[in-house]
Amino acid sequence: MIDERIYREMEEYGSQGWTVVDGLVAPDFFAALEAACRRVKARVRAGDIDVYTHWGNPGEPWCIRGLLAPDFGEPIFADYLLHEPFLARAHAYLGTELRLGWIDLRTNTHDEDFPGGWHRDLGLKDLDPQAELDLLRRPMGNLRWYLALVDDECLQIVPYSQHRPRTREEKRVLEEAQHEDLPGQCQVPLRAGQVLFWDGNTVHRGNMRKDTERLTLAASWQRHSEDDEPVAKIDDRFAWRLQGKVRAALPPALQGYYDRWRALQPD
Ligand SMILES: [Fe+2]
Repeated sequence: MIDERIYREMEEYGSQGWTVVDGLVAPDFFAALEAACRRVKARVRAGDIDVYTHWGNPGEPWCIRGLLAPDFGEPIFADYLLHEPFLARAHAYLGTELRLGWIDLRTNTHDEDFPGGWHRDLGLKDLDPQAELDLLRRPMGNLRWYLALVDDECLQIVPYSQHRPRTREEKRVLEEAQHEDLPGQCQVPLRAGQVLFWDGNTVHRGNMRKDTERLTLAASWQRHSEDDEPVAKIDDRFAWRLQGKVRAALPPALQGYYDRWRALQPD
């Protein structure tokens, strides 16, 4: 039985492609998460730790992965994934069987603006409309969400675009002019403390500015089925998780979800 509040969130998500939810992270937990994220950012910027980081210019991280690695010594991120409101929503959207998704910190580079181009998270660009629709209609594989630790106005989405192939104009922009504006684009502003659940199949982009702090925790749960195919090659972004010390550092409640992910990776 899905809680009425979650059902309404799912309706909005399923329609426009996202929903913003207040009150999922209590003030004490929020303050501890913010402090942990600030430590992580400072240590990566100082060159102290780099488990897997996406950089702009050298020394300028914009996406910091590896938050679950013992290198950071921040067990709060495992607790965060297991936080009941997120698990409840993952179960509602994806079903009862889950495996470990991801968690990373999105932040502004300090030396120059960092505009992201329009895309869908399908990866492929040169799809014909039917092939695109077939991909969009696959069952939902993950539930992703952002927690804004400071106000965040970076994300822009074309609402409802996850239901249809790209228009001719969207196809042109995504393939040839990723930084142009798109008809119907919406900014999805978050106030600190708000959580955004959103669909990566939408046409979207993230625009970061050097002089506007961004500190947003991105996370996901994945749907799991015993029939899921092993991957042929591990995603480079997650290869650090294969180290034995990573599993050992996770709380027992997360290890089973980790094991499901690990079982699908090559040895
Ligand atoms: Fe994306």
